[in-house]
Amino acid sequence: MTTPPTDFRPERPAAVPADGNALRQTLRDLPTPVVVVTTEAGGESRGATIGSFTSVSLDPPLVSFHVTHGSSLHRALDHARGWAVHLLAADQADVAEHFARPDLDGADQLAPFAHAPGSPPLLRGALAVLLCEPHARFEAGDHTVFVGHVTGIVEGAGREPLLYYRQSYRGVGGEVGG
Ligand SMILES: Cc1cc2nc3c(=O)[nH]c(=O)nc-3n(C[C@H](O)[C@H](O)[C@H](O)COP(=O)(O)O)c2cc1C
Repeated sequence: MTTPPTDFRPERPAAVPADGNALRQTLRDLPTPVVVVTTEAGGESRGATIGSFTSVSLDPPLVSFHVTHGSSLHRALDHARGWAVHLLAADQADVAEHFARPDLDGADQLAPFAHAPGSPPLLRGALAVLLCEPHARFEAGDHTVFVGHVTGIVEGAGREPLLYYRQSYRGVGGEVGG
């Protein structure tokens, strides 16, 4: 059983009003995995760095991520028949930075990286790549939640994952007690 801290007081703590800015500031303290989603639509490839990736269901195997309305990736996903979720490794912070740049077209995004051509394009060097088909999508405020059915998994090197925490890229730390 967990022992309460010695300064524990039973009264409810005060809450500040939650607007988008307060939420953003608060969630900076929560590390997220970093993935790159690539897709292809109308002959043009597109990718973006995504921090909102999560596992949704095992049966069937589903994963999700959220995409800003009006972004290039959103426009591509509107017409895509599938996408690839690259689980980035700790030595791929440069890949994450690159796919977060807003000023590149799809060809320039892919040019610097070794990748397997085809649809969707597959980047080399990730921990793993999840090949997805569209399963569902939901509007949620200024984002759309895309839920993908994982139809294939490309295993990569068994390295450590890349995390994003307090506006910088990190690796996983050491194990803590529990
Ligand atoms: C660590 C990190 C996580 C991100 N996570 C998301 C995300 O979950 N959803 C999203 O729409 N954009 C996310 N972005 C922003 C996109 O990578 C990218 O900057 C944006 O899609 C560019 O849009 P544009 O191509 O329309 O200019 C993230 C960026 C970073 C650096």
